[in-house]
Amino acid sequence: MGARFLVTTAIPQPGMQLLEAAGDVTVLPEPPDYQTLAELCASGDFDVVLTQLRDVVDGPLLARAQIRGVSNYAVGYNNIDVEAATAHGILVGNTPGVLTDATADIALLLILGTARRVVEADRLVREGGFHGWEPELMLGSDVSGRVLGLAGFGRIARATARRALGFGMEVVFAPRPPGDRPVSDEELGEFAGGVRQVGWDELVECSDFLSIHVPLNEQTRHLVDADVLARMKPGAILVNTARGPIVDEAALVEALRTGVIAGAGLDVFEDEPRLAPGLAELPNTVLLPHIGSATVPVRAEMARLSALNAVAMAEGSLPPHPVNPEARA
Ligand code: DGY
Repeated sequence: MGARFLVTTAIPQPGMQLLEAAGDVTVLPEPPDYQTLAELCASGDFDVVLTQLRDVVDGPLLARAQIRGVSNYAVGYNNIDVEAATAHGILVGNTPGVLTDATADIALLLILGTARRVVEADRLVREGGFHGWEPELMLGSDVSGRVLGLAGFGRIARATARRALGFGMEVVFAPRPPGDRPVSDEELGEFAGGVRQVGWDELVECSDFLSIHVPLNEQTRHLVDADVLARMKPGAILVNTARGPIVDEAALVEALRTGVIAGAGLDVFEDEPRLAPGLAELPNTVLLPHIGSATVPVRAEMARLSALNAVAMAEGSLPPHPVNPEARA
């Protein structure tokens, strides 16, 4: 019998082709709710399920599942209980590397867009409010010479640093709080001498732009809360391209409303696709629909990698990008 794949939402073509060449593919007509996905995984009808970020693959689902692997169409995998998957011998795959530059582009876009009030300015023009050049029309803040603080210093943070240095920003970082550890010059590589490591408290307090680049887990949930926001500079801008629940969104709305910080550029939200009450009404925000990786080539490459992961797992092999290789032991 050939491999049997369950695809919760169709992925771009290179991926679908690979799956179809390797076995039988069932694509659901609409994103499944939790119960539907749990029953399909428990049915014994599929070897591997190809999931999206919104598919919740938790412990109870995995305990009943009769599958060999879960291939997530994303680099992040906070929607999957990896520990439970490992305990049940179920491999998990993801798509690292291919979306680094695209996501860093969006981080820069949010930094620039928020600093220069691009959404407000665009709206003003469209609504007929542009009556010619004015000395004080839509004044924003500079980015050159200002401090970009990176929470985390993994692939996407580094790609963001590379871009920010090109814009003349001063770049500081704190690796994965709260587990700060000194990063050697060797690990810094091309950034040695160009960026500076600081502690989490200093990062919060000295950044003109604080950009989030840590994974979502129990240590980082609400890492940026009311207390952290209160310690940021009043002119600071918060940027999040990582995961929404890392920021307490209700506290952020309050901080933006009361001038505790100056603005926010968000590509991710705490309870996607819903926004915290009041967020959409705030002018000092740029809000994007989780499009960090949304370019045609990047999504095609993510599809290819997630399909390769799925095919390998269906064959009983380690996928090219395993999250929990120990599950195969
Ligand atoms: C990811 O891959 O984790 C992004 O959030 C979506 O591409």
